[in-house]
Amino acid sequence: MSVATTNRRAVTTYRLKEMKMKGEKISMLTAYDYTMAHILDAAGIDVILVGDSAANVVAGYTTTVPMTLENMIYHGRAVARAVNHALVVVDMPFGTYQGNSKMALASAIQIMKETEADAVKLEGGSEIIESVERILCAGIPVMGHLGLTPQSINKYGTYSVRAKEEEEAEKLYNDAKLLEQAGCFGIVLEKIPAVLGTRVAKDLSIPIISIGAGGGVDGQVLVSYDMLGINNEFSPRFLRRYANLHDIMFEAFQQYIQDVKSGDFPNEKEQY
Ligand code: KIV
Repeated sequence: MSVATTNRRAVTTYRLKEMKMKGEKISMLTAYDYTMAHILDAAGIDVILVGDSAANVVAGYTTTVPMTLENMIYHGRAVARAVNHALVVVDMPFGTYQGNSKMALASAIQIMKETEADAVKLEGGSEIIESVERILCAGIPVMGHLGLTPQSINKYGTYSVRAKEEEEAEKLYNDAKLLEQAGCFGIVLEKIPAVLGTRVAKDLSIPIISIGAGGGVDGQVLVSYDMLGINNEFSPRFLRRYANLHDIMFEAFQQYIQDVKSGDFPNEKEQY
């Protein structure tokens, strides 16, 4: 087999399904740029999500709603260039797939062509199933996203835990089944009761990835800026911080400023 026909990346949607079947947990984190994606990939992450959370942590918006297709393609391309191992999934931004499945397909094709990512992720269930099906028909792998769906923040008005009541929990369960039947390769469940997350993961054969949906599922995802502690203003219960990069960066910046002002930087060895 020539290089051109070999899988570029080691983790495929098929491999993720195998991991679920073997009970191997799936690790997933977000990245928005080349350097972060390169480190993540070298560390051995299974899936890199080019999340529209870039709207919050990179661009400083209060919601993900303003993110555009061009924004996502810019971030997706930078990440995909860095990655040899992980599966790269790009979020479809708000307004590019809801309500018009032909537009959804055109947006997904543009993402796949211009980023060289492996898959796209869409928020929602029955409301967007036509878009999901049309994208899948074109041979583009789709990941679902249910529970707290940040692109719908203006409808719900809160980022609190979703599907606590029976009716909403049943809708989520049925939506998950619908996405599986349509052919999605996995689903992210965000901020829902752990018992519901476990039930969905147990009853579906595709990988279920949690962000605040408990440990009884097939894998976990976090926003990298949050788990690295770069952003120290966001502290939901589901977040585990693995570093305090905010303080490390702050101190380094202060030291640099002091060194420049005092004339200590650059020294003789740091110049030509
Ligand atoms: O955009 C994002 O980072 C996400 C995660 C919260 C799953 O969708």
